[in-house]
Amino acid sequence: MSVPSKFGEGKITVPSLLHRKSLRPEDATKITCLTAYDYPTARLLDDAGVEVLLVGDSLGMVMLGLETTLPVTVEEMLHHTRAVRKGTKRALVVADMPFGSYHADIGESVRNAVRFVKEAGAEAVKVEGGERRLELIARLTESEIPVMGHVGLTPQSLHAMGGFKVQGRTPDAAEQLVRDARSVEAAGAFAIVLEGIPRELAALITRELRIPTIGIGAGPECDGQILVLHDLLGLSFSPLPKFARQYTNVGEIISSAVREYCQDVRRGRFPSDAESYHLPEPRSAPREINIDVELTD
Ligand code: KIV
Repeated sequence: MSVPSKFGEGKITVPSLLHRKSLRPEDATKITCLTAYDYPTARLLDDAGVEVLLVGDSLGMVMLGLETTLPVTVEEMLHHTRAVRKGTKRALVVADMPFGSYHADIGESVRNAVRFVKEAGAEAVKVEGGERRLELIARLTESEIPVMGHVGLTPQSLHAMGGFKVQGRTPDAAEQLVRDARSVEAAGAFAIVLEGIPRELAALITRELRIPTIGIGAGPECDGQILVLHDLLGLSFSPLPKFARQYTNVGEIISSAVREYCQDVRRGRFPSDAESYHLPEPRSAPREINIDVELTD
């Protein structure tokens, strides 16, 4: 069952993001987005003022330890989206449609997208791909499901791209990317992720489009930025891509807290007396306890 967001009180909505793009560049503030996959991080990110929480299919790699995002299922995405929804009051919750969930026929794709809204409380879905997704994005938008596009280095096209490679570096590839971005906008998407493309090309697309561009490895001129939360926190176990900035080392904080706990347990320093329950204080003379009696709590 989905949990409705509270509108008003600064709630981030699809129209409010579109409005930001219509402001003069000097009045527009950048859109802050991060991935989120569970209840506690959604709460923390929402409280910290992140405006868009993307339940990315990157969860396959950072939460489930998979090599790629390709095996992630609709059920897994729904499960994590529900948790993020529960932890979020103000941010816009966007759910990634996983590989295979929008690649067969349009009817099935719309039904899958509806599940994210109806069963998990997503406020929008994200699909990867440009021109090829024109019809799908139009159908989803007609079905009242806001769509975030995603072009450039699209991880679900890993095999077609021959690896995670920066896209749009040749004139032909750059022109195709501009066509892709325009198609996504024309089909009705409310925003578009630009991933792993040259800064200059992202700046050009950002100037061209009337919908906000959200960059990841696409330079600072995009209308907003997104990162994979675990890269920012120092909780991913693989080398970071050039564009990711690690702001802290939560991995180290967790390891050191857990090492200290283990040491305390081994040395009998945890739990202390203050962390233990006690029998009630005897009011008169203490009575011997019959140790054959079974304890019930
Ligand atoms: O799955 C994901 O986390 C994403 C973002 C990196 C844009 O698609």
